[in-house]
Amino acid sequence: MAGRIPQAFIDELLTRVDIVDVIDARVQLKKAGREYKACCPFHNEKTPSFTVSQVKQFYHCFGCGAHGTAISFLMEYEHMEFPEAVEDLAHMAGLEVPHESGSDTIPQSTTQPHYDLLEAAAEFFQQQLRSHPQANHAVDYLKARGLTGEVAARFAIGFAPPGWDNLSKALGKDKAARASLVETGLVIERDDGSGVYDRFRDRIQFPIHDRRGRTVGFGGRVLGDDTPKYLNSPESSVFHKGRELYGLFEARKAVRKLERILVVEGYMDVVALAQFDINYAVATLGTATTPDHLERLYRTVPEVVFCFDGDRAGRAAAWRALENTLPVLRDGREARFLFLPEGEDPDTLVRKIGKQAFEQRITGAVPLSDFLFDHLASQLDTNSIDGRARLVDQARPLLARLPDSIFRQMMIERLAEIAHTDPVRLSQRLEPAHESPPPADTAQAAAARPGKSPVRDAIALLLYQPGLAEAVEELPFQAQDSVPGTALLTELVELLQRRPGLNTGAILEHWRGREEARHLNKLANWKPLVENLDLAAELNGLFAQVAQQVTERRISQLLENEHQRPLDDEEKQELKKLLLARAAGP
Ligand code: GTP
Ligand code: MN
Repeated sequence: MAGRIPQAFIDELLTRVDIVDVIDARVQLKKAGREYKACCPFHNEKTPSFTVSQVKQFYHCFGCGAHGTAISFLMEYEHMEFPEAVEDLAHMAGLEVPHESGSDTIPQSTTQPHYDLLEAAAEFFQQQLRSHPQANHAVDYLKARGLTGEVAARFAIGFAPPGWDNLSKALGKDKAARASLVETGLVIERDDGSGVYDRFRDRIQFPIHDRRGRTVGFGGRVLGDDTPKYLNSPESSVFHKGRELYGLFEARKAVRKLERILVVEGYMDVVALAQFDINYAVATLGTATTPDHLERLYRTVPEVVFCFDGDRAGRAAAWRALENTLPVLRDGREARFLFLPEGEDPDTLVRKIGKQAFEQRITGAVPLSDFLFDHLASQLDTNSIDGRARLVDQARPLLARLPDSIFRQMMIERLAEIAHTDPVRLSQRLEPAHESPPPADTAQAAAARPGKSPVRDAIALLLYQPGLAEAVEELPFQAQDSVPGTALLTELVELLQRRPGLNTGAILEHWRGREEARHLNKLANWKPLVENLDLAAELNGLFAQVAQQVTERRISQLLENEHQRPLDDEEKQELKKLLLARAAGP
């Protein structure tokens, strides 16, 4: 089991990778002075208030308050767990993530055993397809559906043999493994508590991989006409249907530079297309396409083609996909819709017409804009003023979902054309009424006055320029509970002296998960209003102020105590010293 990742490694990592590269690969950044800007990926906005500081290795959005380091960004944006984000950055930097060993370390990941077990299950099912006495009918079934062994192997397709306890016997060796079997839904606990039974029995097994290739669940198909036709793993701590896409990992592996992705409905469609050398199809897992899916897809390719049945249900599903796509359609991203002839799915159609003709259909798929307007217009009479007014009415909330973009502008113009109205006025009416702009002076205000106390100001200064700590000989005060933040400030100075060269991001990582992180993150935004300030002198001044506060607080504490009871000798000494110090003054 992997142990904790040493903090020193995080320090090293965050000096090696550049947050600007990490973010720019996902959200296009523009240089603005010393910083980089973009429209915030964490909330909907039209003027960029998302700022990335290369010097600090820190991002912050003045609009929604999102902030953090390169690690936080991956956790938020890519929905990674902490160890996964570290792993990803380490990979970028060409570093190997070390893990502290020893019995006293806390295991970093509670999900790793589940991944291991799911992997073992995938291997078990594949093994069964090769060697189980009844595997031949599964093999025959796959052959009858036109799959070669090569494609079956590429998708790691397996066989869950008939019987109630094949898997639980093979893998449920110890208590932890049995718990993992239940958690991942591979076995089901009987209602009467008398044990467990295998979920997947006598089925073709399609392992579902996450983007890193780890098995997170399975889809199982019956060999005949029984119901349910497909059985899927339930949601678990490692499997989220609204996030994963069947075949995405395989597509990324098969095609060096993916240009487009085809979204289909079924496992067999993905595999059949691959059999015909169309290696860029993915399927949702029996759910609608979620915004999360779409973000994932568009992070991989600029073009997504949705493939649906041409029937009523297919069109309804396509419309839902359209609605979910609108918010993520930034410029440069494209969505199209391919409607299949009735009674066909990609699997049957590609077998009939072959790769070339199928790809021609993909190329000729309907652009989202056409689908949107045609669909709305098909339900109205656009020859009448009433009908056109209703068209505008129905299109308005849809277009309002589009991010501000050239594409959105063009859609508005198109709507104006169809509705015989003026695009400028239409555009004004479509603008969402409010979306409060970030107050222009937030950044300024932050710069003018970092904290509300000398302690906070000192912390802000150190986060802005960590090197200042090196010149600090000794703090002129001792941390005290009655002066909030002094313990944090002391800890910060000690850290910076112990580990010179840390950037702001790396410093913040030392407080990950701690209550104080909130304060630090806020103060990390500060920058001086004017350049060339003597920050070292500023800092010393602030320390002196803190020292004074600490002294004052301690004096009044002792005096208060004195009201209650006589002070002991030690306290008397202390009070005397403090009063003298105050009299001497700074
Ligand atoms: P076949 O070609 O018959 O193997 O199936 P398919 O891949 O064409 O799938 P189909 O179009 O019937 O269904 C599309 C997707 O919906 C499947 O891949 C499953 O994810 C899901 N699905 C279909 N039938 C069931 C079912 O009975 N139960 C569940 N949970 N999901 C199903
Ligand atoms: Mn099918």
